[in-house]
Amino acid sequence: MSQGRTLTFNIFRYDPQMPDDKPKMVKYQLEEAPGMTVFIALNMLREQQDPSLQFDFVCRAGICGSCAMVINGYPTLACRTLTSKYPKGDITLMPLPGFELIGDLSVNTGKFMRELAERLKLWLHPRNDEADIHRIEAPMDPEEAAKLYELERCVECGVCVSACATKQMRDTFVGAVGMMKIARFELDSRDARSVEDFYHVIGNQDGVFGCMTLLGCQDNCPKDLPHMQQIAYLRRKMATALV
Ligand code: SF4
Ligand code: FES
Repeated sequence: MSQGRTLTFNIFRYDPQMPDDKPKMVKYQLEEAPGMTVFIALNMLREQQDPSLQFDFVCRAGICGSCAMVINGYPTLACRTLTSKYPKGDITLMPLPGFELIGDLSVNTGKFMRELAERLKLWLHPRNDEADIHRIEAPMDPEEAAKLYELERCVECGVCVSACATKQMRDTFVGAVGMMKIARFELDSRDARSVEDFYHVIGNQDGVFGCMTLLGCQDNCPKDLPHMQQIAYLRRKMATALV
């Protein structure tokens, strides 16, 4: 990497809580350090140049999903993006589109994910829902557990929502994250819901039949989740649900 160079950040600034504020791009400059990520650079800018800069983070390790933003046109995680990836040293940062803006680069993905969970009922509906603390845990088939684990890796960062043209055009579309989570419960043998039940939730234009297969979700998901495969799986299931 080219060390000692000066990076130029062009950052979206806007505080919707301030009645007189207007959206604008603000330039900052910073000396690059070895191994620097966009997240580290943002922290340095906030500590050394502008304490009012708003952005989110928790884990710094690609686990919490909080630091997602649009970096040079692509939605991704700031803590997993090295500044050395940009040979010219020019980095433009925008908030994720499709979410309520809190301020600058901070968006309310939590509100979106909570509403999605309530709308799609994204929790286990157990076959036997009587509470019994003395019941012995039932073992799970390791193959099924591995499939569920794969889909549980979603960190709810919102990148797939921002990368999806269908979602950006149609707000009611559930997006890849919604379908991924439905696929997770459809695969779970402990869940009492039938394919018909899931059909009534996502067997429509807001669900599997609204996806235009543009695959912005698959191309940008920082956890490399198999969106294309899962959407195709759900489509096949839903297409035969009511025959
Ligand atoms: S599916 Fe991938 S891109 Fe979408 S919210 Fe989960 S981790 Fe982020
Ligand atoms: S800070 Fe947690 S994913 Fe980046």
